[in-house]
Amino acid sequence: MKDRIGEIVNAIPVSEVFADVGCDHGYVAKEMLRRGKCRFAVASDISPKCLEKAKRLLKKEIDYGRATCVVSDGFDGLYNVDTALIAGMGGEEIISILKGAEELPENLVLQPMKNCDKVRKFAVSAGYRIISDYVFESDDKFYNLMVLKKGEDLLTEEEAEFGRTNLISPSEDFRKMLIKEAEKLTAYAENSSEEKKKKLLKKAERLLKYAENRRIF
Ligand SMILES: C[S@@+](CC[C@H](N)C(=O)[O-])C[C@H]1O[C@@H](n2cnc3c(N)ncnc32)[C@H](O)[C@@H]1O
Repeated sequence: MKDRIGEIVNAIPVSEVFADVGCDHGYVAKEMLRRGKCRFAVASDISPKCLEKAKRLLKKEIDYGRATCVVSDGFDGLYNVDTALIAGMGGEEIISILKGAEELPENLVLQPMKNCDKVRKFAVSAGYRIISDYVFESDDKFYNLMVLKKGEDLLTEEEAEFGRTNLISPSEDFRKMLIKEAEKLTAYAENSSEEKKKKLLKKAERLLKYAENRRIF
């Protein structure tokens, strides 16, 4: 089992100026600096109350001129950022933040809680290519983590749905997530009408095919 923050920090590229947009507690910025993965960290949040937590956590780093905390809606007022993280929000919220940015950073790391397919499609249409895009498990929950860099890419419907890395080299966590999803659908099917039951079982069977890497090309 992995810890979510640690797994996110592992995935973030080494950066000059790193921004955690919607940082809440500020753990990621703290860990990025502790590991020497960025020269300067910006912890930002739309909520002044949330940002207070980050300010307390990052006090030493702020005093040493290595970090700053900014109340901000998305990328408003964030400058010279080369890498940004947006984690723990819904996909539509993430897309709205990206759409509202005057300038987007070279590297983006995204961890949407839902609507991952929409996020993938938007990111590619906004001029990012996928470096990695995979699922990991932490505390019995499954998270999608996307590492993106400015560039051109072409996404298939299947990649948008499942995440490219999961398709190329399915991890144990990805398989586990699909099996759990399929089990949920099967349980739900048991109490459904015949027509719905058929659909749900077909969906579950499809997920199991991916879990067993038996997808049809
Ligand atoms: C569920 S928390 C996730 C915190 C952290 N990123 C994580 O993954 O653990 C979402 C945070 O995003 C902040 N937030 C929501 N919309 C935002 C926006 N438009 N700009 C900046 N922060 C935002 C919220 O105030 C909240 O602190």
